[in-house]
Amino acid sequence: MTRVGILLSGNGSNMEALVRGMQAQPEEAQPKLVLSNNPDAGGLARAAALGVATAVVDHRPFTGDRAAFEAAMMVELDRAGIEMIALAGFMRIMTPATIQHWQGRMINIHPSILPLFKGLHTHARALEAGVAVHGCTVHVVTEELDSGPILGQAVVPVRGGDTPDRLAARVLKAEHLIYPRALQAFARDPDALLAAPISMLGLPDDG
Ligand code: GRF
Repeated sequence: MTRVGILLSGNGSNMEALVRGMQAQPEEAQPKLVLSNNPDAGGLARAAALGVATAVVDHRPFTGDRAAFEAAMMVELDRAGIEMIALAGFMRIMTPATIQHWQGRMINIHPSILPLFKGLHTHARALEAGVAVHGCTVHVVTEELDSGPILGQAVVPVRGGDTPDRLAARVLKAEHLIYPRALQAFARDPDALLAAPISMLGLPDDG
């Protein structure tokens, strides 16, 4: 069983999907800590309601010293015996040293079909580009932003009349389906998943 830490900065809907997935199948992986840099993150109350331990390391007192901020996070992660990290809307970029420390043991979900639309505002950029499909990618975190090896991708249609928010809501539903599956498969056998990433096509069409 792998001890998983989930890092978030906001709402935590992906965290909730991950926790529910692990709680349904605790043999592979278990959520041992939800850690936020944002004391006001909605995901903290959500995690507590799911019975998962939470911690906050506010980045603001560490202005300009990312290494010290990350060291403080490491104290919490070590205390909880965390072996693997899932980023779930964690809005801080990590230093190369921290990324190297977790090399091959830290995964992320990004709201686009990578390598398209790395970075922020992916839904607005997808609409601007006029693509007919969009979606999300689960990937291993490496030093280059949104560029690590792909573990799974889910595709949703772009519809006439879509706004960034409507498209984001459609993608988010796909995120909640693919991320728990990918996390559990990764915890079980990372090499097998890397060799055969999950592809989710033709998801239920509910708006
Ligand atoms: C998601 O869109 C995820 O892809 C991105 O941040 C957002 C987090 O949403 N990395 P939530 O906090 O999980 O609801």
